[in-house]
Amino acid sequence: MAEQFDLVVIGGGPGGYSAVLYAASAGLKAALVEKDATLGGTCLNRGCIPAKAFLETAAVYRHVDHAADFGIESSAPTVNFAVTQQRKQKIVAGLVGGIAGMCKNRNVEVFNGVGRLGPDRTVTVTSSDGSTTEITGSTVILAAGSVPRLIPNFERGGPIMTSDEVLDIDFVPHRVAVIGGGAIGCEFASTFADLGSEVTILEALPKILPGLDKDVANVVVRSFKKKKIDIRTGVPVTGHRPRDKGGTVVTFGDNEELKVDIVIVSVGRRPYADELGLEGTGVVVSPRGFVEVDEFCRTGEPGVYAIGDLIDTPQLAHVGYAEAILVVKQALGESPMPVQYDRVPWAIYCHPEVAWAGPGEEEAKAAGHEVVVAKHPFRANSRAQILGETDGLAKIIAEVGSDGRPGRILGVHMVGPWVTELLSGGYLAVNWEATVDEVAEFIQPHPSLTELFGETVLTLTGRNFNG
Ligand code: NAI
Repeated sequence: MAEQFDLVVIGGGPGGYSAVLYAASAGLKAALVEKDATLGGTCLNRGCIPAKAFLETAAVYRHVDHAADFGIESSAPTVNFAVTQQRKQKIVAGLVGGIAGMCKNRNVEVFNGVGRLGPDRTVTVTSSDGSTTEITGSTVILAAGSVPRLIPNFERGGPIMTSDEVLDIDFVPHRVAVIGGGAIGCEFASTFADLGSEVTILEALPKILPGLDKDVANVVVRSFKKKKIDIRTGVPVTGHRPRDKGGTVVTFGDNEELKVDIVIVSVGRRPYADELGLEGTGVVVSPRGFVEVDEFCRTGEPGVYAIGDLIDTPQLAHVGYAEAILVVKQALGESPMPVQYDRVPWAIYCHPEVAWAGPGEEEAKAAGHEVVVAKHPFRANSRAQILGETDGLAKIIAEVGSDGRPGRILGVHMVGPWVTELLSGGYLAVNWEATVDEVAEFIQPHPSLTELFGETVLTLTGRNFNG
């Protein structure tokens, strides 16, 4: 007899582990199936967490490099990236261990092996020794995540790396080509440029960070240029020739060549439905590889849901968390609201950081809104000057109300110091559907970086402190 659970989740990444932990906290008997040796999925093991640990090393390098500006004399910084790698691994191990510990404390049963879904919400777990276990769930969640996409002629190995491999290196490469100027590409470009690498971004589209508000993207481009990152846009990458001495020569654009030590392929991630079984079930996988779901994350099989990078929603860990809660609430017989995907918080941790919620100016106009916009640069902000981090801006997009004045706040977009942390006020405003006048009533601490958000809202009321 297969063991019966209230909830069975396949995939132990952010979507999957948050689903079982949340379910267990509500009293459900939950099981988590994970094929890797550790829980945490891409985010913890080879994604968000390690990438941000690298970025923090880059930040420390910058601080030491500029220490003299603050009156602190020190020798020029040198990098021991093996220590960076060890530090990152320690952080990862701690967090991964924490998830395993929380599962244990909440009596979540963890099965190590590949989980395949068959009919009647039965999941067969195949362990590495080939043995199998069958379990069933009243509710089953597919949360198998995604893997890096590759492009023709760029197989992993040697100098060709995806985020998986680059997060394991213990040296700073001298010359780096980053293929793809999306979130992942820009975070690695920023890290290695700060640590002294010669970095070239090769982006097929006319601009990097294509989804970003134009004013915000321009700040990133200007800052990247200051770091001497060579940004090449509109250049399809065609192939590469490995060199005997190591490294490779990348060919791109109009037969141009670039000699580098490593290539980071960051051209997106594809959903990983490859090992989910699904025969005899009503679960449908789209031609692009996503598991098809409705707005409640329901698949075509009753009681079976899919969440996270496996479905065609923003590939963000925190969106996976939100989808996990949405599904578990349904399993508990509650009636939750679907996730509002057009208003989720976005955060890119390159230097300068980028964060936003809601549409940018062009997107809001394209959606038919009559908008009014206010922008304030960080260079006028006292805390930013104290930090010595003045590149950046806050931009707010509000809808023109029926009285002709700025009304509801549609989008809050920021680039600059710590904006990934500063976004929360803006995120609340957008999702609370607050108006400019309502938010302008709130007081921001002084001196603080958040004042820039407050000041930008104040400007939309027609009055302000700083012009
Ligand atoms: P992406 O889809 O954001 O960007 C990939 C870029 O590669 C695009 O600009 C695309 O035009 C370009 N590209 C594709 N093929 C190319 C080619 N052959 N030559 C040159 N350029 C090419 O994908 P990315 O950056 O790999 O990230 C994957 C996912 O992970 C995204 O959904 C992203 O939002 C998410 N992510 C989010 C992070 C964050 O929020 N901080 C951090 C890392 C990833």
